[in-house]
Amino acid sequence: MSERGARPPESLWLATTEATDYDPLEGGLEVDTAVVGGGITGLTAALQLVEAGQTVAVIEADRIVTGATGYTTAKVTSQHGLIYDDLLSTFGREKARQYAAANEAAIDEVETRVGELGIDCDFERRPAYTYAAEDGDLDAVRAEAEAAAALGLPAEVVEATELPFDVPGAVRFDDQAQFHPRSYLLAIAEEVRGDGSYVLEETRARDVDPGSPCEVETSRGAVVADDVIVATQFPFFDRNGYFARMHPKQAYLLAVRIDGTPPRGMYYGAGSPPWTLRSHPVEGEDLLLVGGQGHETGENDPPTSERYRRCESFAREHFDVESVEYRWSTHDYYSVDRVPFVGPLGPTTENVYVGTGFGGWGMTGGTAAGLILSELVRAGAHPWADVFDPLRVAPRASAKRFVRENADTAGHFVGDWADALRSSADLPSVGEATVIREGGRPYGVYRDGDGRVHGVSAVCPHMKCVLRWNDAERTWDCPCHGSRFTHEGEVLSGPAVDDLPRRPPNADRDG
Ligand SMILES: Cc1cc2nc3c(=O)[nH]c(=O)nc-3n(C[C@H](O)[C@H](O)[C@H](O)COP(=O)(O)OP(=O)(O)OC[C@H]3O[C@@H](n4cnc5c(N)ncnc54)[C@H](O)[C@@H]3O)c2cc1C
Ligand code: FES
Repeated sequence: MSERGARPPESLWLATTEATDYDPLEGGLEVDTAVVGGGITGLTAALQLVEAGQTVAVIEADRIVTGATGYTTAKVTSQHGLIYDDLLSTFGREKARQYAAANEAAIDEVETRVGELGIDCDFERRPAYTYAAEDGDLDAVRAEAEAAAALGLPAEVVEATELPFDVPGAVRFDDQAQFHPRSYLLAIAEEVRGDGSYVLEETRARDVDPGSPCEVETSRGAVVADDVIVATQFPFFDRNGYFARMHPKQAYLLAVRIDGTPPRGMYYGAGSPPWTLRSHPVEGEDLLLVGGQGHETGENDPPTSERYRRCESFAREHFDVESVEYRWSTHDYYSVDRVPFVGPLGPTTENVYVGTGFGGWGMTGGTAAGLILSELVRAGAHPWADVFDPLRVAPRASAKRFVRENADTAGHFVGDWADALRSSADLPSVGEATVIREGGRPYGVYRDGDGRVHGVSAVCPHMKCVLRWNDAERTWDCPCHGSRFTHEGEVLSGPAVDDLPRRPPNADRDG
């Protein structure tokens, strides 16, 4: 459980943009629409509504664009690995077509905004490839190209790529894109603010009272609005069982300097484990982004530090790596049927909408969600809304996945509690962390480099799963629905909305 000496993870996107400093909410506020969550989904929706003449409050618990959107790979593509053949067979032609159209339109939307607002965010059209890692993947790649082309997407099978290792073939989508997500969205946020609209940072939404109007209860006061859009990744306000229909997955990225020119296209491996590659210009030089090692959030075997090492080994095996400039990780939520949930949050939550479950493809998915949700708020309908309807019954093919994933979550709950209650009260060594039992309760205890002991409750405030230590990020992560906390217990990402209680001071015998 130790990670000493390595440079702390830092996202390329956060490292190369200024921090924001919007004021928090003070007291109360009334607007037409409250948008909770300042990532790509919330900010896209907010700008659409402001342009349509509404007043909007974007309510962000932390700083905007520091959630998943600040830690992504930032490919802006309608190519989402291998999905269209699957969608055709599970959802049928019409809904698969809606999915394809929504994601293609999202690329155009980003390009249009970049042009209209003159945003300097390295937006560039480039081809995207999903490659067969071995011969056995080739049939699936061919079927994907055929399905995507039948849905009107710019897809074809190619045998040669620019990758420095052999691949048996790939499906290429032309006219896809990449960008710097924070440079893009910080400019969008500036467009949202003003004339009765607000971007509120360090303001955590704690609950929503649905109705006409709705009321969002926050850590800083209440926001009253006709409609509420919940764009917080996992909805912090879950009365409709989203926790049973989505699961979180964490993955890792490096930005490396290589000797030579990185591939121009964006690549994703169809095999297992899937690797993702693309390049990005930083101060006139192209860095290579290499990502992979996805796993359920909170799984810590192997530890997260080892996941970074595996990404680096893959990069060094295939490229002449001179240095690792940045490394970072984040998680996203995966719905059981692979399609995001975008639309009314639930049957009884009047005027509350949700956009979540982007399955690792939220640059287009979140943009499309912003377009759909703003139109649902304004006009009550959108031509792509059917396929994303959060109230849909999952296709039968997903039922097994649904049962398996919930069994995994239940397994974490039962198994981790049993382990936690068995665990001894030995405090960890310097740089390490462990879950210990005291007074019949599990505590997460981390001893920092100076020997100071930081103890917090190891019970997730969301639905009481036992937290696990993430040694690379030095966070306590929840294996059930992905909440994450600092070693001092501050909630970093939801669905939890409360910090972890500190371990009682008299328990710090050794701290
Ligand atoms: C490793 C990795 C690589 C990826 N690469 C790509 C890629 O190349 N292309 C692609 O399309 N997608 C990619 N994705 C997926 C994509 O990054 C996400 O789907 C997308 O960023 C989600 O955006 P969002 O706006 O929904 O969520 P976020 O960006 O997480 O925004 C949600 C915001 O809500 C805030 N919040 C949470 N709870 C509250 C609360 N209670 N009150 C107020 N605010 C709250 C959070 O602080 C956060 O700022 C990747 C994902 C991962 C894990
Ligand atoms: S996030 Fe749901 S129990 Fe922790």
